[in-house]
Amino acid sequence: MNGWGKRTGLRLGLALLLIGVCAGADYRLGGSVVPSFYNLTIDVLSNADEPTVFNGEVSIAVQVVGTAEVRQITLHKDAIDIEECWLYNESGDQVQPIDSSQLTYEEATQQLTVPLSQALANGAYTLGFKYTGKIRTDMAGLFSASYVEQDTGKTKWLAVTQMQRINARLVFPCFDEPAFKAQFQLQIVRPSGYEAISNTKLLYSSAESKDRFVDHFEVTPAMSTYLLAFIIAEYTARGNVSEFAVLTRPEFYNKTEFSFQVGQRVVAAYDELFQQPYASLGNDVLQYATSPRFPHNGMENWGLIIYSDDVLVKEPGYTDGWSDKEFTIRIIAHETSHMWFGDSVTFSWWSYFWLNEAFARYYEYFMAHQLYPEYRLDEQFVVRQMQLIFATDAVNSTQPMTSPEASIQTPSQIGYKFSSIAYAKGACIVRMWRNVMGANNFDTAIRNYLKQNHLGNTRPNDLFNHLIKNWPADQYVNQEHFLSDFTEQVGYPMLIVNASRNNHVVYVEQQRFLLNRGDGSDPDLRYTVPITYATNLAPDFENLTPKIYHHKPVNLVELSFEEEAIDWIVLNLKQSNYYRVLYDKPLWDSLQVAPVLLQPQWRAPWRTGPRLSTIFSTSLVWATSTTRMCSNSWST
Ligand SMILES: *[C@@H]1O[C@H](CO)[C@@H](O)[C@H](O)[C@H]1NC(C)=O
Ligand SMILES: *[C@@H]1O[C@H](CO)[C@@H](O)[C@H](O)[C@H]1NC(C)=O
Ligand SMILES: *[C@@H]1O[C@H](CO)[C@@H](O)[C@H](O)[C@H]1NC(C)=O
Ligand SMILES: *[C@@H]1O[C@H](CO)[C@@H](O)[C@H](O)[C@H]1NC(C)=O
Ligand SMILES: *[C@@H]1O[C@H](CO)[C@@H](O)[C@H](O)[C@H]1NC(C)=O
Ligand SMILES: *[C@@H]1O[C@H](CO)[C@@H](O)[C@H](O)[C@H]1NC(C)=O
Ligand SMILES: [Zn+2]
Repeated sequence: MNGWGKRTGLRLGLALLLIGVCAGADYRLGGSVVPSFYNLTIDVLSNADEPTVFNGEVSIAVQVVGTAEVRQITLHKDAIDIEECWLYNESGDQVQPIDSSQLTYEEATQQLTVPLSQALANGAYTLGFKYTGKIRTDMAGLFSASYVEQDTGKTKWLAVTQMQRINARLVFPCFDEPAFKAQFQLQIVRPSGYEAISNTKLLYSSAESKDRFVDHFEVTPAMSTYLLAFIIAEYTARGNVSEFAVLTRPEFYNKTEFSFQVGQRVVAAYDELFQQPYASLGNDVLQYATSPRFPHNGMENWGLIIYSDDVLVKEPGYTDGWSDKEFTIRIIAHETSHMWFGDSVTFSWWSYFWLNEAFARYYEYFMAHQLYPEYRLDEQFVVRQMQLIFATDAVNSTQPMTSPEASIQTPSQIGYKFSSIAYAKGACIVRMWRNVMGANNFDTAIRNYLKQNHLGNTRPNDLFNHLIKNWPADQYVNQEHFLSDFTEQVGYPMLIVNASRNNHVVYVEQQRFLLNRGDGSDPDLRYTVPITYATNLAPDFENLTPKIYHHKPVNLVELSFEEEAIDWIVLNLKQSNYYRVLYDKPLWDSLQVAPVLLQPQWRAPWRTGPRLSTIFSTSLVWATSTTRMCSNSWST
């Protein structure tokens, strides 16, 4: 997903207040009843003029496993009304009659419990529900949107889904946790004049009556509930809906050439990078669809990425839309990467949400840069992502990328993980790993991680194992510490750099960077810090392989220049790693007159924008600001 701030950001404050209110309740489903297949029928737009309700029917194939006695089945639902419930055994016989008035619902946990008169033996069962639900207006679950068609002036309706984070339960009773992956078979009943699209290929449509049709979709790969999606609308497709297509309202058809072209390039590039072609993941089709109302820039439902209209709809021949097109490219690169990072391989619980979004945000910039280098998104990344998140991550209200699983339980705690820490800091950390390991080692690790966990769920260690396996032999560092320091701890270090002995020696110390040391933050956190540098003796700004690490137990790192003293030194080249640098006054002064700075390409940094700030001056920029910000506690 991208653009979480549109809705979630506003709610975050409130959400935080609610954390812990229901500390006693158990929010997690047990593992005794495991779903594998949902057969779901949704009947919508009974009254096409104003769609407000839908009828649903779902049969869930479940497996009863383990040794615990199963005397009830608990799953999720929210704001749907159950009319009937049934339970069949593997031969299709009723196990016991279930009186739907006996079902219980707990509002805090959004759990629905089906009581059983006798315990279930291990084995396969089918749990079914007939229910009704609301087509909502709050852009959660199944919701409605509308627009006025230009030529006719008619108001057109569409029904759209957004299941992330935990809104699938607004559309059907389900085991709504990301690790309960299952296959889905969907039937949509809709009026004539509309079409339904979903994650997978439309198999066929059958007539239910003169003006109502049933669209039958191919079974999905095993995936998390939050990735199910469908839309009922009037659509026109550019491309081949059995392979790759952009779907919009008919009057936008001529405005989707650009996004169609970007999509084709992006998919081909990921196919090559990950060496696991999209279609080989288990779903032949990839559709990009748009909605005039949508809570995010895009949502990565497997096979049906839904975007806000403004992401995909561009005037043809529009040449001055420089940043506009950049936006389209970035969001497409982001959402499409989720087909691998998120859809095929999914975090096992919301506390590890960054396993999706750190990579999506990283590729949003760096895959976009590979394909459209004219936007220099590699350099923009530092300004727009790293420097932005540096502020968030330097105050007490920040959070670690990885939270303990037990601390993320309630719906509002899950919402708390949808933070720019998961996205922007996550992407900075991913970038640091790739810089430190080298691109080839990193890409190999990523391919193996994606391959090994195809259709599975992961925790950070599943990723770390592959990074460590591909760690370059000449990089001496405790990889576990390096990987966990930046993901399990909050914040980041500032390296404090002093020259000594007439510039024959440079000392480097670390201290956590904080905007206000009295705000309750832990100032003593330490990190395993990779150090890169250039000097006037070796003015190489391109080699991002660390020359040395600042290991946590060491107080002072010494860089010595015995043969010849340096005039100047720059650390953290291209701000390739996640930290700031503070130079002492003499070093700082020498940087300001360093000849490399006086070359034309480095001049006027604040006007030319990202180039200079990323290659060189970000260290300076931050040296300046850290000097100011830390003036109470540290003076140069
Ligand atoms: C799924 O449900 C539909 C509608 O109830 C039914 O026609 C179809 O046979 C079911 N498919 C499977 C595989 O159970
Ligand atoms: C299902 O239930 C019926 C009726 O109780 C029984 O005859 C049948 O053996 C059961 N099938 C399985 C697979 O347990
Ligand atoms: C669309 O894709 C399908 C599946 O790959 C293919 O069989 C069909 O020929 C394509 N249609 C067109 C018009 O290219
Ligand atoms: C799209 O462009 C074609 C050719 O310029 C034009 O004939 C057609 O009317 C346009 N369609 C729409 C929906 O604007
Ligand atoms: C670095 O410089 C600061 C301020 O000039 C000084 O307080 C500190 O002791 C120096 N550290 C080293 C290791 O020289
Ligand atoms: C700082 O953050 C911690 C952890 O979230 C919290 O427990 C503490 O109350 C905060 N301190 C202040 C002064 O806000
Ligand atoms: Zn995303």
